[in-house]
Amino acid sequence: MEDQYFISQPYGKTLDKGSISTQSPSNIALIKYWGKHGNQLPQNASLSFTLSESYTQTTLFFEPKTNREFRFEVYLDEKHQPDFEPKILQFFERIEKYVPFITDYAFRIHTHNSFPHSSGIASSASGMSALALCLVELQKQMDDIKNTENYYLQKASFLARLGSGSACRSIEGPVVVWGKHPAVAGSSDLYGCVLKEKIHPVFTDYRDTILLVDQDQKEVSSSQGHSLMQGHPFAEVRFSQASQNLHKLLDVLQVGDVSGFIEIIESEALTLHAMMMTSIPYFILMKPNTLEIIKRIWDFRRETGSSVCFTLDAGANVHVLFPEREKETVGNFIKEELADFCQNRKFIVDSVGLGAFIKS
Ligand code: PMV
Repeated sequence: MEDQYFISQPYGKTLDKGSISTQSPSNIALIKYWGKHGNQLPQNASLSFTLSESYTQTTLFFEPKTNREFRFEVYLDEKHQPDFEPKILQFFERIEKYVPFITDYAFRIHTHNSFPHSSGIASSASGMSALALCLVELQKQMDDIKNTENYYLQKASFLARLGSGSACRSIEGPVVVWGKHPAVAGSSDLYGCVLKEKIHPVFTDYRDTILLVDQDQKEVSSSQGHSLMQGHPFAEVRFSQASQNLHKLLDVLQVGDVSGFIEIIESEALTLHAMMMTSIPYFILMKPNTLEIIKRIWDFRRETGSSVCFTLDAGANVHVLFPEREKETVGNFIKEELADFCQNRKFIVDSVGLGAFIKS
């Protein structure tokens, strides 16, 4: 499939002034995407759990206008945020070809995150996917010719990807693959697709407690990190390793092999950070407390036989993953031991979820 598939057909009507509200969650990659090419295309396929409690709610207010310029304002919790606008402008410029009607309206974009803005949790995945879903819904209300369910979700994911790569994995859940992979029918570099295979029940309500180790602005952004994979000495090996890990993980998810899961997931997290440490220029996003938490998770697992494990995103925070049946024991371990290593003892209790939706 080519990206032309997502170019809007001529649409009939311009809507009167109105609004559309969506809610879209964050997601946590188990097989990591690190390295891109072309127009936000991934160098390897990635796979994520969609989350449920860490989300963005967006209301897109629209009003028809006549000139062909972009016109919009962004508000976070009712406060005007001009500093968010360059990123949204870049997003609008990238997607105009696919949703040309965006210049027909003046927009006010009101957003709210369920997690604190400066928590170190990237709001780009949930924020961009929530806005992308608003725009596809707007297209649907103007002209529903090609808006079959599949096309609708694929286009929302396709647009979200152009805002922030990993955002394309937030439209659906519980498990989403982004990037063409021979073992995943229907997978594409252009959008995320929900894993159709039956997932073992142990994984459908997995828990993810996000330990907020460092809430400061990251020293190196994801986009800088992705670009350092160009010419990286281990790049090709890394991309094929990710593909093999994804293949193995598919079996693990289907049979409910928790030990196999732990090995792949922790290796992926550490490899992601190993890529950062071996880029030129090299950098480290983990903090001493990140390492302390990892050590304590390993000790706890050895001492108690627990299935708790960790993954990391591009930062110092630790995602603690465990089966629902361990929510009490691991919950206590987090409160009593790991919270000491979080900034202001803060963590977010989350679990696997089902994706974005329109709020009525
Ligand atoms: O979507 P971006 O450009 O913010 O990159 C996300 C990169 C990782 O979170 C480290 C991995 C991933 O697959 O989400």
